[in-house]
Amino acid sequence: MSGDQSRIGDSLGRVNNGRRVTLLGIAKQALVGQQFRLALLAVFIAGSVVAEVAPPVILSRVVDYNIKNGTVDRLWFWATAYLLAIFGQRLITFAQTYTTVVVGQHALLRLRSMMATHLARLPVLFYDRAPVGDIVSRVTNDVEQVNVLFTTGVIAVLTDLFKITGVLVAMFAIDSSLALLAVLSLPFVYAATEYFRRGIRQAQRASRVWVGAINTYLQESWRGFRLIKQYDSAARFLERFEVPQQKYLDSSNRAAGFNAYFPGVQKTIEAITTGVVVWVAAVKLATNPTLSLGAIVAFSQLITRLFSPVQEISNELQTFQQAMAGVDRVVAFLKEEPDAGQGDAASGVTEAGGVVLRFEAVNFGYGSDVEILHGINLAVSPGERVAVVGRTGAGKTSIINLAAGLYRPWQGSVTVVGRNPATLTASERRHVIGVVPQTVYVAQATVAENISLGDPIITREQIVQVSHRVGLDQVLEALPDGLDTVLGRGGHQLSHGQNQLLCLARAMVCAPPILLLDEPTSGIDSETERAIAKTLAGSRDMALIIVSHRPTNLSGIDRIIVIGDGRIIQEGTQEELEKAPGWYASMQEIRRLGWIV
Ligand SMILES: Nc1ncnc2c1ncn2[C@@H]1O[C@H](COP(=O)(O)OP(=O)(O)OP(=O)(O)O)[C@@H](O)[C@H]1O
Ligand SMILES: [Mg+2]
Repeated sequence: MSGDQSRIGDSLGRVNNGRRVTLLGIAKQALVGQQFRLALLAVFIAGSVVAEVAPPVILSRVVDYNIKNGTVDRLWFWATAYLLAIFGQRLITFAQTYTTVVVGQHALLRLRSMMATHLARLPVLFYDRAPVGDIVSRVTNDVEQVNVLFTTGVIAVLTDLFKITGVLVAMFAIDSSLALLAVLSLPFVYAATEYFRRGIRQAQRASRVWVGAINTYLQESWRGFRLIKQYDSAARFLERFEVPQQKYLDSSNRAAGFNAYFPGVQKTIEAITTGVVVWVAAVKLATNPTLSLGAIVAFSQLITRLFSPVQEISNELQTFQQAMAGVDRVVAFLKEEPDAGQGDAASGVTEAGGVVLRFEAVNFGYGSDVEILHGINLAVSPGERVAVVGRTGAGKTSIINLAAGLYRPWQGSVTVVGRNPATLTASERRHVIGVVPQTVYVAQATVAENISLGDPIITREQIVQVSHRVGLDQVLEALPDGLDTVLGRGGHQLSHGQNQLLCLARAMVCAPPILLLDEPTSGIDSETERAIAKTLAGSRDMALIIVSHRPTNLSGIDRIIVIGDGRIIQEGTQEELEKAPGWYASMQEIRRLGWIV
């Protein structure tokens, strides 16, 4: 993890631990280090307001002084100022747009890293609940909405609000009764804009729905094409195809209609308002000599400048609303409680009394309601070999999951080397527990990287040694680049059994005191299985908890635990269990008779 990312992770940790996950809190985190750009944006917004108001005011000066008195005195100055204001406005718009995008993209980067860090800290339970597609869409689409909210939402709305305020201030400074008239027209402008925008939106949404319907219909028909031919139902097919086509046409036409009317209506309202204001102004001019001609000219220009931000805001608020839906999902995601952070310092390899793994009255279930494990008690000494057996669905993998710290028990406690496995830090974890899961996972990377998982602490020497130890030598010889052969999609594919050996090497590379193996020999021929058994037999430095359907094939098992319906139903050495009546003895009997192997 890069330094920047870990800082983000830390700051997120603070947000989360303090339970302050709010939109504002997240925004602050995302905008950290961008104070200068934000200050620049504030300057640009102020500049754009000035540039918006300046031209009409300058024009009124020129009308009242130069044109009225027929002089060119200082005309150069005002003309240059006018041009500068117009040019400056374009420049500011450019700079503001650019800066807004840069700030937004930087914030997005931080936010995505925050989400990725958070994702890595979430408990496995979260992954059980959330479909992969949902997680992906949160980290891609939804987070993009935060950017939209910032650029189109906050910055654009703020700019427009300030522009409206600036123009209104100028208007009231010129003549308050005329300004009041303009203000009175604003609700009409806003309402008309809203009406048309809503119409356009609804029509567009409808046309999208109907395009979707057409696509689905075509796909289904394509698949059922033989059927359509066979039953000669082409006529009916075409008939039904007509309906979505017609609906699509109608909604598209409606959207086009709104789009065509809209600018006309806008201009009409603007013209009417300008007309009324100029009319009233003309009447006032006749009776009240304090109002100047320049003021009226300025006013008619200001009115146009007042309307465009009002119309824009209607659009921006809509975007704002849509973006908020995405942002809500991001906030909800960041509010997901992460797994406990740092554990206490590592304290040797055993707890007092020489136990490396202990379950104490453990009750556990995955979701919220169904309890899977009931009252499990277990203590494993250093170097001890424990086989966990039982019928499918009994809860064997669940025990491994708890020991690995992937889940937490509902009641009771699980400890490895005296500590809660769920609170081990990432760097400690693989030095304490090695896990070979039931479903093997091979990353798209080299064999060596698959073993070390990119952990820089693990040396090449360790990787070579562990490969030899688990019997990967033969496999490596057959690969073109040995340990540096790329595996996975687009690379070399190993067989299931070879993948299991790889996973075993990954689990054993740090020589942890506890090795958890979930059906490590299920895809392996008996010769390789014997090789693995030999490896494990020669690893007396590790305590072994091994889920196996065939524990008899593994030599040197000290104790067998039989799980039935989430309970330990039998426990003892192989000889003890063979003698005692029960599940284990029956299974052995069935095997002996050759019914299963
Ligand atoms: N992620 C999960 N979410 C919800 N329920 C689960 C989950 N994993 C397992 N279960 C349920 O827990 C029970 C025990 O499952 P577990 O995987 O521990 O069985 P097992 O003994 O390992 O079986 P097998 O021999 O088939 O691997 C099953 O009823 C299963 O449906
Ligand atoms: Mg299992």
